[in-house]
Amino acid sequence: MSNDWDGGLLADLAPGLASRTFFFDECASTNDEARDLAAKGVPHGSLVLAEKQTKGRGRRGQAWVCPVGEGIACSLILRPVMAPALWSRHSLAAGLGVAEALEISSEVKWPNDIWVAGQKICGILVEATREAVIIGIGLNVNVRSFPSDLAFPATSLLLETGRMWSREEVLIALIERVMTRSRQIDQEFPNVIESWNTRCALRHKTVRCIVSGRAKQGVVEGVSPAGELLLRTPEGLEAILQADEIRLV
Ligand code: BTN
Repeated sequence: MSNDWDGGLLADLAPGLASRTFFFDECASTNDEARDLAAKGVPHGSLVLAEKQTKGRGRRGQAWVCPVGEGIACSLILRPVMAPALWSRHSLAAGLGVAEALEISSEVKWPNDIWVAGQKICGILVEATREAVIIGIGLNVNVRSFPSDLAFPATSLLLETGRMWSREEVLIALIERVMTRSRQIDQEFPNVIESWNTRCALRHKTVRCIVSGRAKQGVVEGVSPAGELLLRTPEGLEAILQADEIRLV
């Protein structure tokens, strides 16, 4: 299997997606390119795909690095018709969509990491502009090894299954699923939450996290109907909207 993106294969398998994909051999961050393209008015569902990112970034300002030819680094541009107050729900919807698209058993770690067998396989960075939501997805597809100093143990489809995967096929499946889930952030959000909770990697586990500068420890009960993390602490059940890295105790 070639290590290069095959635009012809993408066009054969998913002509609609291929026609709205902006491909870069190299860019700083697909989220930045997506932001620029969104400002220029590209349509809903446009995709920025890069072979190499020189400044790929994750949440909390962390770097996102993936060996060239071995992963998927892309940013989906959505122009939601829903009220902007609902846009943050894309974070949970996108993580769930990616998890559902993978053909192997996977879980979601709040807010939107995807884990396989207790290791991170995908990270998502959702950013909003005035006119669009950008869903940046970094998925380890055929990655053979990872640096030992990562904040979390990482894995890839290749390491989990012992075989190479077509990045084009994986990309098509995940964009389709993320777009489907992203349409459900309004009336159908209870369905997103229910499915999310069945895949919640931390459910019934004791975790530690930092909330507004304060350390908290508790047992995860899942996510609330609004998408907050529900943490049972000695003070009672807390609904957490934002937290720094959540670690298993
Ligand atoms: C995280 O786990 O902290 C989120 C990682 C998100 C990485 C992806 S790769 C494509 C897109 N472009 C970026 O610069 N980041 C996201």
